[in-house]
Amino acid sequence: MEKMKILFNREPKNAEMGAYIFSPQTLKEALESTLSGIKDIVSRENFEGKEEQALFLISGFEKFKRTLLIGIGDTNISNEKVRRGAAIAVKFAQAKKIQKISIFVPHLKEVSKKDAATALVEGSILANYSFQKYKTVKEDKRVFVAETEIIGELSQKEIEECRQAQVVCENANICRDLVNDNSSVANPDFFEKFVKTKLKGTSLKVTVLHEKEMQKLGMGLHLAVGRGSESRSRVIIIEYNGDKESKGKYLFVGKGITFDSGGLDIKPGESMENMRDDKAGASAVFALLKTCEDLKIKKNVIGIMGLAENLVDAKSYRQGDVYVSMKGLTVENNSTDAEGRLVLSDCIYYGVTKFKPKLVVDFSTLTGSAIRTFGEHVALMCATNDREANEFFESGQKTFERAWKMPMFEEYVKETKSLRADLRSLNKKPNNGAIFAACFLNNFTENTPFVHLDIAGTAFVEEPKPYYETGATGFGVRLATEYLKRQK
Ligand code: BES
Ligand code: ZN
Ligand code: ZN
Repeated sequence: MEKMKILFNREPKNAEMGAYIFSPQTLKEALESTLSGIKDIVSRENFEGKEEQALFLISGFEKFKRTLLIGIGDTNISNEKVRRGAAIAVKFAQAKKIQKISIFVPHLKEVSKKDAATALVEGSILANYSFQKYKTVKEDKRVFVAETEIIGELSQKEIEECRQAQVVCENANICRDLVNDNSSVANPDFFEKFVKTKLKGTSLKVTVLHEKEMQKLGMGLHLAVGRGSESRSRVIIIEYNGDKESKGKYLFVGKGITFDSGGLDIKPGESMENMRDDKAGASAVFALLKTCEDLKIKKNVIGIMGLAENLVDAKSYRQGDVYVSMKGLTVENNSTDAEGRLVLSDCIYYGVTKFKPKLVVDFSTLTGSAIRTFGEHVALMCATNDREANEFFESGQKTFERAWKMPMFEEYVKETKSLRADLRSLNKKPNNGAIFAACFLNNFTENTPFVHLDIAGTAFVEEPKPYYETGATGFGVRLATEYLKRQK
């Protein structure tokens, strides 16, 4: 898939389709001024600017051969509605095989010009994405929009903000490619080659811990998970040093189970089908670090990708056995399908002890419990620090990669105690699974402020969303970039 070109112009140049986004109120105003020439058609076709309304005109208007009017309604008007508006324009153009489109920055009192323009860029790039690697029938292949022109009176600074959003979304699309690809392709071996190739020649420092080094470090939990696989487990560490004046570091850890069969506690077929998405956390961490580099973000950021494949084999790790973590704490393994927390525990502990970050964040498709709580709409957050949780909440509102905080009360913490070992990997009762997992992980953070983001529901959608086709969403890349940009 070619990258979509984004242009910024005050007046439309040579686009084949002009798209306008309206609320009922702004439509009324436009029909009295700029759009007075098509007032009759608009009223005849009953276009009122309501949400999900669109009116496609093939007759010439202004400089365009075709015009698309898009409604966003009048409730909860926000940058997200603008993102969705842009997505409608892009999808429409794709369906009509229109290669170049112009979208006008809408004038909305609820959304600043900068935010509206940024949202247009985001919606366009995310909606133009489709995973086509395994499509061979020409007629079934998607035609992509090659060029989107954003029309508005934008300052250089506003355009710069849009350019940054463009890079973030392109990197989110790289994340989506990784998550969507076959698990037999994108396995731990592949990730090492991929990361090294992609980041060659950048300022990012890549270190890979192979099983031998992991053994030396005592990463017994992580190593246990990958025992049944031919693609050996590993930890990839990416270091970005964007703020030479500060020692403060942010650590992001991503769950990279490249395929989760459940292990010996094997998943039923249907639940296994999408388990290539269990690498979404690690993929997001990679894309985030690449974004830090691309945007020259003025922060020090460390990314750790915890990679392993959870398969069935005579060597597979076992339910009921006790495994020893790098920290030394022993863990009773209550299910080989609760593998993510084992990999993450060792990676988190390694990261916090080696880098002493001021914050550790993990992205992980960790529990079905998070999906049962929030569906595909919101990531389940647990945090030991209210300020950081709030920053992630606010970043989520801005990016619409939303996160909602759950408690880590001591009753939940106590549930992680085991009779046979120090910790249990699963709660005795099948309750509060997502919170339990967060409390389990917190045993390995060494009191570093911790934000846990369970993205099991949001990383991969079964139902297409306005700017996400079925499959990976790249969740976390836009959220974490926004978080980092907000920090002083
Ligand atoms: N990777 C899964 C969680 C998951 C489920 C992510 C569905 C995305 C979609 C995780 O490793 C897992 O299997 N969790 C189990 C644990 C169970 C054995 C207690 C779960 O939450 O169902
Ligand atoms: Zn699992
Ligand atoms: Zn898993």
